Amino acid sequence: MPLLEVENLKVWYPVKAGWFKARQHVRAVDGVSFEIQAGKTMGLVGESGCGKSTLGRALVKLEEPCGGSFKINDVDLSELSGKELRGARKSFQMIFQDPYGSLNPRISIFSAIDEVLQLHTDFDKKQRVDRVAELLDMVGLEADIMYRYPHQFSGGQRQRIGIARALAVEPDIIIADEPVSALDVSVQAQIINLLIKIQEKTGTAFLFIAHDLAVVEHISKNILVMYLGRIVESGPAKEVCASPVHPYTQALLSAIPTIDQDGKRKRIILEGDVPSPINPPSGCAFHPRCPLATDICKQNIPKLESVLSRGHQSACFHNEESRQK
Ligand SMILES: Nc1ncnc2c1ncn2[C@@H]1O[C@H](COP(=O)(O)OP(=O)(O)O)[C@@H](O)[C@H]1O
Ligand SMILES: [Mg+2]
Repeated sequence: MPLLEVENLKVWYPVKAGWFKARQHVRAVDGVSFEIQAGKTMGLVGESGCGKSTLGRALVKLEEPCGGSFKINDVDLSELSGKELRGARKSFQMIFQDPYGSLNPRISIFSAIDEVLQLHTDFDKKQRVDRVAELLDMVGLEADIMYRYPHQFSGGQRQRIGIARALAVEPDIIIADEPVSALDVSVQAQIINLLIKIQEKTGTAFLFIAHDLAVVEHISKNILVMYLGRIVESGPAKEVCASPVHPYTQALLSAIPTIDQDGKRKRIILEGDVPSPINPPSGCAFHPRCPLATDICKQNIPKLESVLSRGHQSACFHNEESRQK
């Protein structure tokens, strides 16, 4: 049984329409299905605006889905609310791109982590102080920093504190929304290695969100590639990065040249921006930017289908052609 099972999840935001216009929606997440196994990391990549954060926020119940469901340990969380939800909330935590934004500047590091402990445990004060010290040690910080305040720390240290707080109640899964995007490259590697070490020690699963495939490849067992609210390619991280099948994934990886029919090295350059998810392009939403697009791509939406090997899927009418390149 997978730890997390997401089934046809949809999150649409209503948009204020004009007086005479029908109500419109931003289809931020539009029918997404995937599974994460206990103790494993799933990478989620796509350009800005593709719906990654909305998907992550829906999984920690910060957004209300308008369709589909998700289960953690076979419990349907999309249905839970109130007290039941509070009990289940322990099993999933989120960390954010900007840990400063999620750490209240007025409260000490101890209080920030203690909040979570008070909510979810019946530890007394001494036990909570010990637990905070233990958590800080896990993320490579000294225990005596617990009485300091967020502004006294660097971005990387703040992200470590954010991770310590997420770990406080031993969650089964942490949704990490671009946790290293705001950090210097050297610090990024330290935080990613820390997360790998923590996973080995605690068995916590991660949904690791990034816009850069290179960041995700190293930490993930599997990868989801998202474009305009849908998964366009998914599969084992190594294989997706070494042999991307969907033209969008190939474009994301375009720093690595691909070989076209004539044996020439060719780079696919992603032109333009992600179109608006209010009125997404017809058929395959990627068709206006896709070098392989033909008429069928403008008319029909391609389904995810198996490619190359077990567990690797791509949603493209030109999978055959892509595969031969
Ligand atoms: N609260 C909101 N209300 C309306 N639209 C939103 C809201 N949050 C996000 N969106 C829109 O949903 C789409 C997906 O956004 P987001 O999930 O933040 O993407 P990503 O994290 O991949 O950059 C974007 O078009 C964004 O403008
Ligand atoms: Mg985002």
